[in-house]
Amino acid sequence: MLKRTLALEIARVTEIAAIAAAKLRGRGNIKAADKAATDAMRRELSGIDINGTVVIGEGEMDEAPMLYIGEKVGTGYGPPVDIAVDPLEGTKICANDMPNAFSVLAISEPGGLLHAPDIYMEKIAIGPGFPDGTIDLDHTPQANIKALADAKNVPMNEITACILDRSRHAKLILAVRETGASVKLISDGDIAGIIWTTDPIQTDVDIYLGSGGAPEGVLAAAALQCIGGQMQSRLLPSNDEELRRLNKMGADASKKYNVEDLACGDLIFSATGITNGSLLNGVHFRGDSAETETLVMRSKTRTVRRIKTKFYGINSKLAILENEAD
Ligand code: FBP
Repeated sequence: MLKRTLALEIARVTEIAAIAAAKLRGRGNIKAADKAATDAMRRELSGIDINGTVVIGEGEMDEAPMLYIGEKVGTGYGPPVDIAVDPLEGTKICANDMPNAFSVLAISEPGGLLHAPDIYMEKIAIGPGFPDGTIDLDHTPQANIKALADAKNVPMNEITACILDRSRHAKLILAVRETGASVKLISDGDIAGIIWTTDPIQTDVDIYLGSGGAPEGVLAAAALQCIGGQMQSRLLPSNDEELRRLNKMGADASKKYNVEDLACGDLIFSATGITNGSLLNGVHFRGDSAETETLVMRSKTRTVRRIKTKFYGINSKLAILENEAD
């Protein structure tokens, strides 16, 4: 079992990573903000009494300065834990100061998070409160929209599907629209897209469909395990090299992974907003202080907390942390 106090320790990690990235938001520099968030996350993790192993990292997909898969984090003195990180979810949206960039991390007991490389993953997700098996990755979009509409007892034109705006999704978008359902296209950020399905009254999103990053899929599954919801996914290696990497990690390209195959057991999830969004407020700087909003959740207790934190003297704190890292 994870120590309950780890939730606050983890929240501090995403808070500082979010602040570091927020200092660089809107500057058009994808790599600088990602590096700042990654460095800050690594630094903060290094002070926590855990014997952590990164099992989901950013990887080479966008050549980010990464917290790499297999990297050891923490002081090494605490319990062994597995960690999934995305120091900056939404590198492009942060660079353009658009909505919904955040810093995110999930922690589990060893083996609680799928070990997957930074390749694509096909995903489908809905929120809690529906019979098991309402959706199925192998069914057509039409069948899934119909099944969800029936389960909600509404016509299909009252369903909204969230999909990443990518040319690879053109057919999918068409198929969803043909059912009468509406499509909410997002430019980036499918962890938020999946979490939105858990609160359709607030977000107007009922179902998430499409392919995105596998790391983001595992992190979204960790969130769903805390809030509730169904998700299925399949890894999508695009070449032999990716297939080799996923096999080496013990994953299976033919397997349909349910939410509990992606993330299970005692999990703690923390996300801190970088830019303003509908899931989280972004970092607000006021002179030498910074305010953050963080969503911290634990699967074992099914607790969902929103923490608003004010950091006074943030510029000197960041400078001290950077000097310590040198
Ligand atoms: P990054 O923050 O790593 O840029 O990821 C943003 C994101 O939109 C993810 O949320 C999503 O899973 C993935 O990129 C989709 O990848 P692609 O942009 O290649 O379609």
